Amino acid sequence: MSKSLKLFASAAAPATVVLVVAYNFADRNVTPMPPLPDRSEAIAAYTAPPPSPLMAAVATEGDPTGKFGLGRPAFPEEIAAWDIDVRPDGRGLPPGSGNAFDGESVFEDNCAICHGSFAEGVDNWPKLAGGEGSLADEDPLKTVGSYWPYTSTVWDYVNRSMPFGNAQSLTADEVYAITAYILYSNDLIEDDFELNQDNLASFELPNAGGFILDDRAETEYSIWTGEPCMENCKDNVEITMRARVLDVTPEEEGADETVEAPAEEPVEVAAAEPTETTTEMATTEATTVVAADPELVAAGEKVFKKCKACHKVGDGAKHGTGPHLNGIIGAAVGAKDFKYSKVLKGLAESGAVWDEPTLAAFLEDPKGFAKGTRMSFKGLKKAEDIAAVSAYLSTFTE
Ligand code: HEC
Ligand code: HEC
Repeated sequence: MSKSLKLFASAAAPATVVLVVAYNFADRNVTPMPPLPDRSEAIAAYTAPPPSPLMAAVATEGDPTGKFGLGRPAFPEEIAAWDIDVRPDGRGLPPGSGNAFDGESVFEDNCAICHGSFAEGVDNWPKLAGGEGSLADEDPLKTVGSYWPYTSTVWDYVNRSMPFGNAQSLTADEVYAITAYILYSNDLIEDDFELNQDNLASFELPNAGGFILDDRAETEYSIWTGEPCMENCKDNVEITMRARVLDVTPEEEGADETVEAPAEEPVEVAAAEPTETTTEMATTEATTVVAADPELVAAGEKVFKKCKACHKVGDGAKHGTGPHLNGIIGAAVGAKDFKYSKVLKGLAESGAVWDEPTLAAFLEDPKGFAKGTRMSFKGLKKAEDIAAVSAYLSTFTE
């Protein structure tokens, strides 16, 4: 663009030419296009638009380096006012100090309304404390204590953007005191510890090691570059699983095959159970397995479509969002190698077993039966669906 600008400017930019060009430009780009026009001309005009009168004027009067001649260099004071970032090593921290004891009242006055006393959050406002060890959970609680890598970031973030709605209203000492208070609320320092510009960066937050430098440019880039293989790329093909097991085809009817399976090895359910109570239960269930009504099983297979997104059954079934459900009928609650919720773990400890009534109660209202369960499923309303799905599940042994 600057090239055409200069050309134009050196032509002394007679007003008439400028106007004609501007008119052309406007005409081509502003008037409505006919349906499906050849747009190549318009596109060309966009990528190298002729200068507007204002641009041309600026270019004529501007300095000879080709700049626009607008503005002025910023004053050092102005740069300093913008340059407020703080780095992990503490560079950029202004002088000051504060401890959690002083921080508490500043925090109460400015922050607690949203972040709660002790920084533990109010309603859905972010919690700033707690959550240690929760990062690998399905629902991690990311706070300064559990997640953030650097103390300097706490200072910087609070200094720049909090209190929400009244950012940058705090003094440096107040920000030090609040940072100390947040560290204190995370049990990382004592309440009389004096945090200042020299010692702040030396605090290593618990999750500092959880952050790594992105080195993909060095380590992976060479893998993505190079010529991609476009034909005969795989030198051997190995069949690892049957499509039926992988469940790639949505099945409709075909109840017959499903019923055959259980009759072969029904008793294994009982054999696999560890405790006496469960064995008893499982034995009862094993009888049900043999007796499972083919029609009910077929109906249950349909109902199970509601569960499939999270639960797998059949040969080689793996855990997904929920545990695989092979051998579940009669099995102890929460007995698989799966990350269960607290409530299911509690039921497991109390020796609960997935017999039909227990399973029915759970499936009817998962959250009502096991408050806090991680199974986000609203439940099966119809008793016959529940009966059907448990008949279906009973056909899968561990
Ligand atoms: C009016 C409510 C409100 C007040 C008051 C408030 N905050 Fe916040 N705070 C927020 C919100 C909302 C966020 C999330 C902002 C975002 O994600 O962009 C937040 C985020 C934060 C975070 C980052 C949390 C995280 O893990 O991502 C910190 C630290 C923080 N605030 C500290 C403070 C401090 C210190 C004060 C008092 C000086 C304060 N806040 C006052 C609403 C508030
Ligand atoms: C959105 C995902 C989801 C859906 C849909 C879902 N479940 Fe679950 N299910 C889970 C999760 C997650 C758990 C583990 C619950 C916990 O730990 O609290 C679970 C646990 C279970 C358990 C207990 C397993 C054990 O080892 O103790 C059974 C039984 C169960 N689900 C059956 C079903 C059935 C039957 C359906 C369909 C009618 C269904 N679920 C639908 C996610 C789901």
